[in-house]
This record gives sequence, structure tokens and C-alpha cells, in this order.
Amino acid sequence: MGDRNLSDFFQSYIKKQSIFINKKVLQDQHTPSEILHRKEQLGQIASVLAPCLRGEKPSNLFIYGKTGTGKTLAMKYAQGELESVAKDNNLPLQIIYTNCKMKKIAATEYRLIAELGRALGVDIPPTGLPTDEVYNIFFNRVVQAKALILVILDEIDVLVAKNSDEVLYNLTRMNADLQGASLSIIGISNDLRFTELLDPRVRSSLSEEELVFPPYNAVQLQDILRKRSTEAFKTNAIGPGVIEKCAAYAAREHGDARRALELLRVAGEIADRAESEQVGIEHLDLAEDKIEHDRMLEVVQTHPKQHQVVLLSMLRSPTHQGVVQTGTVYDTYRELCAPVGLRPLTQRRVSDIIGEFDMLGIINAKVHSFGRYGRTRNISVQIPSSLLPTVNAILQDALHLPRI
Ligand SMILES: Nc1ncnc2c1ncn2[C@@H]1O[C@H](COP(=O)(O)OP(=O)(O)O)[C@@H](O)[C@H]1O
Ligand SMILES: [Mg+2]
Repeated sequence: MGDRNLSDFFQSYIKKQSIFINKKVLQDQHTPSEILHRKEQLGQIASVLAPCLRGEKPSNLFIYGKTGTGKTLAMKYAQGELESVAKDNNLPLQIIYTNCKMKKIAATEYRLIAELGRALGVDIPPTGLPTDEVYNIFFNRVVQAKALILVILDEIDVLVAKNSDEVLYNLTRMNADLQGASLSIIGISNDLRFTELLDPRVRSSLSEEELVFPPYNAVQLQDILRKRSTEAFKTNAIGPGVIEKCAAYAAREHGDARRALELLRVAGEIADRAESEQVGIEHLDLAEDKIEHDRMLEVVQTHPKQHQVVLLSMLRSPTHQGVVQTGTVYDTYRELCAPVGLRPLTQRRVSDIIGEFDMLGIINAKVHSFGRYGRTRNISVQIPSSLLPTVNAILQDALHLPRI
């Protein structure tokens, strides 16, 4: 800002033109005016749930697909349409949407059932009752309501990870005695392997119907981006090739529309700050770097201490032609555990942690086999050198080690 004073800066900031008309359109909470490329999935959701409009209990439904494939969007849209038809026709339908990742709702079985009860208008104290009693209150309320109830459990894998599958067992079993009322579960998960962990009985009742949301391909992402960018940006604010490259970036990972939209928004912000009238490829590339860097720092910051020690060990181990081997990392790790005050994990467990960092793209590990002499992994760190000082500082501070 040099020697311009702040007031001047703020004044000119107000006058400065932005290339956005409405940045919110690119944010996650915004509901788009149209859902593209999900006709088939919406049709399937509709045909599974439609029986409730005739007073019949719909099958339970399990929806899965990677993040950003439009699951929440499609389900909320279907919910809205069902509710309005039910209302116009005076039908006793109640749909309860809960995101198990939000507001600690799913932290305990008690809280979840209390929350569902509250959605049906019965006040259950947030703590204090025996869990059986909470179930009873909820159960009686459902019977009393004489309604068809659809419970949408979004991010249902979080619920099961925090508790067990017992809550699902109990909910799906309830129907047996509901005397006219009914309760259907719609579970949504980003984790494709989640049902493998379920008790087979729970799995088969949750998955009476199953629906997959496949990743978007680059062309579909382009359509989604184009549509939303016309509402978010001024005319001609997007330079040639930007939408295509943005879609290609997002498709390269796994066709995540959330990531594509975020990338375009950040590129727009960078272009704005550079006082450019158009988002260009250069802004997009900077946005990609920024998001990638933020994500890495987040991973480094939020991982448990043992993981942080393993990562620091990989950074500190002597490399040979840019790679370091698992055994060397383990030696460094054991040495580091003492000053950090942790008990060393087994080499096998450390290997697992290394594998997790590999999946997150923080490192790259290639298995190297010595035939019958065994195998090791050649590890190369993928953190860009510009970020290394920050990463080192974060790790050393988190582990209370002196900065070196
Ligand atoms: N087909 C689509 N058309 C327009 N926007 C979409 C579409 N699919 C996803 N989005 C947008 O992408 C983001 C992620 O979608 P979401 O439904 O939350 O994904 P998921 O629940 O599968 O992780 C949201 O901002 C959503 O509005
Ligand atoms: Mg979702």
C-alpha cells in the first residue's frame, strides 16, 4: 500500500469495479436455478419416493457417490418438490433432513433421536434421559403423527463412525409396530465403502434401493460452471479457455462440482485483486495453487500428533536422489518421538500413516521390490518448496520442537 493512507485505499476500494455481479452464486450454500446432468438420478429418487404420495411407505434408499457429485443438491430439490405436492394435496408427509456432519447432531444416538423428535414437534431435553426413553418418546410421536416420515441422513457415514450402526438398526426396525405411520430412511454417503462396515441386516434394510452418483466428466462440469458463472460474473468477465481449464482441473481429480466452483470463485477473486477486467488462465492457475496450498496446510495442521511426527520425519530424513525409503523414515521417526514425548508406533502402523499421506497427495510413495529380499517404498515429498518453511514451522510448533 506504500504511503497511501488507509482512508484513500478504502475510498478507491468502493469505487473499484468488481468482475462479480453476485459472488454468492458460486458458493456452496447457494441453490442453483437448475440442476444439470442429473435427470436420471432425480428420476430414480422420485420413483423410489413417490409411493408416499399414495400413502404407502417408500423403500429405504441409500445414495452414494464422491463429494461434489450433487447428492445433497438433488436430494434437497426432491424434498422440496415432494413437500409442496404433499401440501397441495393435504397429504400427511413429513420429511426431516439432517446433515450428520453438522452441529454435533450425530455425536450420540441420543442427540440424533432427540433432534428427529424435535423436528416432529416434541421437545426432548438435550441430555438427561435414558436412551430407551428418548426412543420411546420419538416412537410415540411418530405413531401419534399418523404420518409417513422420511428421514434423510446426509453424510450418514459420519453418524456410524461416531456411534455404531445400532442407531440405524433401531430406526429401520421401528416400522414393525408403527400402526399406520411409517418411517423411511434415506442415507447419503460420500464414502463408497461405508456399507461394508455395516451389520449385514442393517445394510440390507438401508439399501432396499441404492443409487449411485457418478463423478461429472469435464464437459458436464463446463456446463455447470457456465450456467452458474453467467449469474455470478458480469458479461465477458471470463476469458477464453478459462471454463474449459477449470473443468479440466476438477475432472482430473474426480469430477467434483464443488471444487470446480470454488476454483472459479477464487480465480475471480484473484483477478479482482489484480484489478483485471477478466478472469484469465493465469488467475486460474494461481487459484489452483492457492487452493492446493491451503488444503495441504490444513492437512498438516489438523492431523494428530503421531501423523505430524511421521510427516516431519519424512521431511527430515536424508534423501537419496530426491527419495527416502520407509526404513530411513522409521529411524528418524523413532529418534523424534523422544523429544516430542510420544511412544513410538510400530513400523507397520507408521507405514499405514505414510500410506494415508500418499492418498492425500502430500507425498508420493512407490513400492520398490527387491525380489525375495523384500520390499520398501520410495517416498518423495510433494509439498512445493515455497511451502516447506511454513509446513516445517507448523509441525515444529505443534510438536513443541525448536524451530530449525
Ligand atoms: N448438476 C449440478 N448443477 C449445478 N450445480 C451443481 C450440480 N451438482 C453439484 N452442484 C453444485 O456443486 C456443489 C456440490 O454439490 P453437492 O450436492 O453439495 O455435492 P455432494 O453432496 O455430492 O457432495 C454445490 O454447490 C452444488 O450446488
Ligand atoms: Mg453432500
